[in-house]
Amino acid sequence: MRKKVDRKDVAAELWPGVSLGLLQALHLVTRDGDLNADARRKVKQIRHLLGLLAPAFDDALARHKDPVIVDCGAGKSALGFVAYETVLAPAGRGTMWSIESRPELVAAAEERARALGHARMRFVSGDIATAAVPERVHVVTALHACDTATDDALVLAIDRGADHVAVVPCCQAEVARQLADHKPADPAAAALCAHPWHRRELGSHLTNVVRALALEARGYQVTVTELAGWEHSLKNELILGRRVQRFDRAAQARLDAVLDRFGVRPALIRALDARPIAS
Ligand SMILES: C[S@@+](CC[C@H](N)C(=O)[O-])C[C@H]1O[C@@H](n2cnc3c(N)ncnc32)[C@H](O)[C@@H]1O
Repeated sequence: MRKKVDRKDVAAELWPGVSLGLLQALHLVTRDGDLNADARRKVKQIRHLLGLLAPAFDDALARHKDPVIVDCGAGKSALGFVAYETVLAPAGRGTMWSIESRPELVAAAEERARALGHARMRFVSGDIATAAVPERVHVVTALHACDTATDDALVLAIDRGADHVAVVPCCQAEVARQLADHKPADPAAAALCAHPWHRRELGSHLTNVVRALALEARGYQVTVTELAGWEHSLKNELILGRRVQRFDRAAQARLDAVLDRFGVRPALIRALDARPIAS
């Protein structure tokens, strides 16, 4: 028979600083105080991500009186809730915004925030591209935002001049389709994507390379790293950006070379085409 776990022990062991009420509301801990099957893995994922985001949150808190954090494609807003409880609530300032296109998830998260008394959490129901968030945004995150929703999050960060941006892209198929529709003229590039499987892998890789280069071109210092323990290797990449300047011409040249060599025009690039940098 399975040993019954003490509720408080579970909460403390799982996540110091995170309330048992939140762990239960997010279905990481059952009403009886048991762990759900995937709970440990899920908690490990979010904890690891928050650890990597800590310098960005610390910097935002150090530089701004009321930092604005925006989580895009938030789902149940697990990341936002935990960031609130472990970072913004102890700091006593800062506002956590979550953007999510499924209204039922937004309504449930709003209700959860009310019940937990998290007064500085805001929820926007709708698309990232048109979401009414404050003009000045300091940290933008997107954890597994579907397909090109990751690009919408990057555009939001660039548009609002966010100090920090962190995205963990989800699967995406757009560039693989572009590679299939227009075979690259360069024979080496064409050989890299001759087979559908390779097109899918290369398409995914190219999309993230382009995302990193586009951020660099728009003045971000970029780190690409792995999120340990994730279930799917294609969703295991974290792209972190810290804004250090307005524009980087050398990075733009590298980006143009990649786009040219492979003959692709991903969603992010099409969106940025409409946002030329004033010289
Ligand atoms: C795979 S889930 C990830 C949820 C959450 N970030 C997490 O890691 O648990 C992606 C979420 O993004 C939302 N989404 C997808 N495209 C969106 C868009 N353009 N604007 C806002 N939300 C979007 C979906 O409804 C879904 O809830």
